[in-house]
Amino acid sequence: MSARRRTLLKVIVLGDSGVGKTSLMNQYVHKKFSQQYKATIGADFVTKELQIDDKLVTLQIWDTAGQERFQSLGVAFYRGADCCVLVYDVNVMKSFDTLDNWHDEFIKQANPPDIKTFPFILLGNKIDIDGGNSRVVSEKKAKDWCSMKGNIPYFETSAKEDINVDAAFLCIAKAALENE
Ligand code: GTP
Ligand code: MG
Repeated sequence: MSARRRTLLKVIVLGDSGVGKTSLMNQYVHKKFSQQYKATIGADFVTKELQIDDKLVTLQIWDTAGQERFQSLGVAFYRGADCCVLVYDVNVMKSFDTLDNWHDEFIKQANPPDIKTFPFILLGNKIDIDGGNSRVVSEKKAKDWCSMKGNIPYFETSAKEDINVDAAFLCIAKAALENE
């Protein structure tokens, strides 16, 4: 057995249906992207091992359903979460407007011991579409929202083009580790 301690970090990914939660995870863990949309039902997790400084950590990333009719997560699901990843689509205003709801829902369900310091991360996904010409949420607007919520780190990503995906998840892992 390794002398080093292995740490399991539980990460929960939330956001509207179709913003690319599953795609981001598939890109990160399997280096794969599919154009086809297949709604997530309930929740499922993937794991990824990574080394942070001298620590070996296992990220357990929980993908959830954005579609309301497929949501069936109880309080137990959120228990022990070390980080919450919020995802929206930079081309869809509604997916940005509902971030408050996802944020509130997480806090209500997970009930973290210290709301002020609990690590959230925001991802603005699909920046590749139309070379950025169809985006409706500016980077500034997103960053303002992050400041308002207590300086949440923000990444603009593309699951399709694999832009910023590794960087975002590394930040997520570090935030989760610090909170653990
Ligand atoms: P639910 O499971 O319903 O909550 O949706 P989701 O958030 O998991 O979305 P999903 O990853 O299934 O992606 C929805 C659609 O958007 C799929 O057709 C993906 O191929 C597409 N998609 C996801 N990410 C990107 C991206 O970065 N760029 C582009 N162009 N398309 C993307
Ligand atoms: Mg999904």
